[in-house]
Amino acid sequence: MACENDNNNKGLLLALGLVLCVTLSFFPRVTEGRVPFACDPRNGLTRGFKFCNTHVPIHVRVQDLIARLTLPEKIRLVVNNAIAVPRLGIQGYEWWSEALHGVSNVGPGTKFGGAFPGATMFPQVISTAASFNQSLWQEIGRVVSDEARAMYNGGQAGLTYWSPNVNIFRDPRWGRGQETPGEDPTLAAKYAASYVKGLQGDSAGNHLKVAACCKHYTAYDLDNWNGVDRFHFNAKVSKQDLEDTYDVPFKACVLEGQVASVMCSYNQVNGKPTCADPDLLRNTIRGQWRLNGYIVSDCDSVGVFFDNQHYTKTPEEAAAEAIKAGLDLDCGPFLAIHTDSAIRKGLISENDLNLALANLISVQMRLGMFDGEPSTQPYGNLGPRDVCTSAHQQLALEAARESIVLLQNKGNSLPLSPSRLRTIGVVGPNADATVTMIGNYAGVACGYTTPLQGIARYVKTAHQVGCRGVACRGNELFGAAETIARQADAIVLVMGLDQTVEAETRDRVGLLLPGLQQELVTRVARAAKGPVILLIMSGGPVDISFAKNDPKISAILWVGYPGQAGGTAIADVIFGTTNPGGRLPMTWYPQGYLAKVPMTNMDMRPNPTTGYPGRTYRFYKGPVVFPFGHGLSYSRFSHSLALAPKQVSVPIMSLQALTNSTLSSKAVKVSHANCDDSLEMEFHVDVKNEGSMDGTHTLLIFSQPPHGKWSQIKQLVGFHKTHVLAGSKQRVKVGVHVCKHLSVVDQFGVRRIPTGEHELHIGDVKHSISVQTTH
Ligand SMILES: *[C@@H]1O[C@H](CO)[C@@H](O)[C@H](O)[C@H]1NC(C)=O
Ligand SMILES: *[C@@H]1O[C@H](CO)[C@@H](O)[C@H](O)[C@H]1NC(C)=O
Repeated sequence: MACENDNNNKGLLLALGLVLCVTLSFFPRVTEGRVPFACDPRNGLTRGFKFCNTHVPIHVRVQDLIARLTLPEKIRLVVNNAIAVPRLGIQGYEWWSEALHGVSNVGPGTKFGGAFPGATMFPQVISTAASFNQSLWQEIGRVVSDEARAMYNGGQAGLTYWSPNVNIFRDPRWGRGQETPGEDPTLAAKYAASYVKGLQGDSAGNHLKVAACCKHYTAYDLDNWNGVDRFHFNAKVSKQDLEDTYDVPFKACVLEGQVASVMCSYNQVNGKPTCADPDLLRNTIRGQWRLNGYIVSDCDSVGVFFDNQHYTKTPEEAAAEAIKAGLDLDCGPFLAIHTDSAIRKGLISENDLNLALANLISVQMRLGMFDGEPSTQPYGNLGPRDVCTSAHQQLALEAARESIVLLQNKGNSLPLSPSRLRTIGVVGPNADATVTMIGNYAGVACGYTTPLQGIARYVKTAHQVGCRGVACRGNELFGAAETIARQADAIVLVMGLDQTVEAETRDRVGLLLPGLQQELVTRVARAAKGPVILLIMSGGPVDISFAKNDPKISAILWVGYPGQAGGTAIADVIFGTTNPGGRLPMTWYPQGYLAKVPMTNMDMRPNPTTGYPGRTYRFYKGPVVFPFGHGLSYSRFSHSLALAPKQVSVPIMSLQALTNSTLSSKAVKVSHANCDDSLEMEFHVDVKNEGSMDGTHTLLIFSQPPHGKWSQIKQLVGFHKTHVLAGSKQRVKVGVHVCKHLSVVDQFGVRRIPTGEHELHIGDVKHSISVQTTH
């Protein structure tokens, strides 16, 4: 979304701001309950309207309403601040609300205050992803939508949430990488489907608890780098990368998550703005994936492709291109201003607009917005007492605990034993962090426990910031930090980043700790008399090679942006109340990686002729600080295979289905194979906790295809998280589907199954499967 600090589009934003102010006045100040959006039973008028009759199928109600609307009304309903239609008993509606990891007030549709002073703020998404726990993601979605419904009932929020952000975290510098579930398409796809199900209510059929939105479609993951910003960026993306990387989470979001909305992005893909590309919107999202819902622009993105990208000659053409491409809702005023003359010029018809309206109104009807009195509807009883409940805040704590990643633990220096410490020094610009812990696209938290407060619950603390802010420009406070390091029995350094370094519109310039942070860490470590524990609070990866190699630094934790309860979770991990089990959802590259990788290069695969090293663990073979999937525990886990098929035959429909992938192996098109359940192989893996502490273990399963020109190094195909008591064993059942998990994508974007020896990496066990074809 465009924030206030995007000044590229001042005119449009000003216009947007003006209309938004009008919209806000629709929200009643009282919080006992909102006026029904439409079909108010107290309004005698509405009884005669078929669109208000809940016994009539939704598509019939939608058509009835559209038939009653005038053209000017229709035009003012396809923008985020939709107007009221008083003659039909319909209120205005602000479509733009956000709930990335808690109800957020970033969108104008949601306001805190009065009976709703705050909401539960979960860890930032990149952190929650590190839990590799699908039920947790869904559970967070369920809680967030409870709070969202409660705030809607109180008149302070909408029902349409433009979350989650499921773009692939392709480049470590991306300021919005923190909002995403990381670099891996399988992980991002599972996250997308789980969170959306949680938000929308999994078992409610066609009814929606709230409407989620997967954004930003597609290949959008550059905000502002080296003079190129997202408003002007043309992402050159191969068919291969689109199919096996960028589109994967969106496809899962629509097909598995049944999401009610997809947002197109600011950037162009291969020379076309995504919001004006019928191939992407109409053919892919709605045609192939069968989106049941609406497609929305990123805020002002229609204006952006006209004003900044000069994609069309006239604004009417821009409006027409967007609608013809399949856009249903404009976040911004552009369509409200230019659609009328686009129709008068014959560039689009009123019927094109009707199709967009049908997609929008259907979602509103599925949300119950045309069902009259909200209090008599499902979720109608949710109110202020259902927000920030102790159960919700407990889940925020649980999420934070599950998301912390133990990167290094020399000589098992962690966990610390509180009874053996008199004082602990807590140092660093993030030591007493509050809002920093919730990252961006957040709201107002119910409350915070800072790292310092969390640690103080276990042991007496001495605190020094060491430097003012994460920018850490001066060393004048280092001395005081060294003094407490010399005195305290242990030191916890809470370093890292915040939104001044990585944010929307702000990509990072480097991967090192900012300013003099590195020097502070080294000096405090040198002065310390006890163990030194380094905590990195950040969304993106940080090159902390210096600390990895510093013998004075005992342990390193990545705490991400751990949410409102972050400090409690951090202390629980440090003192061993929680055994850490998080895993990195992205590669931690060394700083030197950046020199070879322009942020504008979208290629996932390396290019030997240019020296381009490729991206993510799937394609990049160079040195890393910590790899994708890395994460230690206070226990040690071992794996053994109890059941593991060694070969599988893929029935194919015709011989032409075979084509050479290399000289020695063949690859069958997935579309030519009989991909039924018989091609799902079952593996049984015994996970043993060899340690003396109970713990959770995440079993990651990667597949490695036979070497071939299309292949990745390896690909995550599944993950399973289990709790294993000390000294005991758990059997994990893993399904691997040949078509889904052993296929690769060729240069034309076609998925194929290479025949020959595939290797599965199941934890630290490698297992070979021979894939043949039969016909
Ligand atoms: C995953 O999350 C769920 C929901 O919070 C939780 O009940 C479960 O214990 C977690 N699983 C593991 C293995 O930690
Ligand atoms: C496929 O590979 C075989 C060798 O295994 C070779 O004889 C044949 O010409 C190749 N076909 C094509 C279309 O490249």
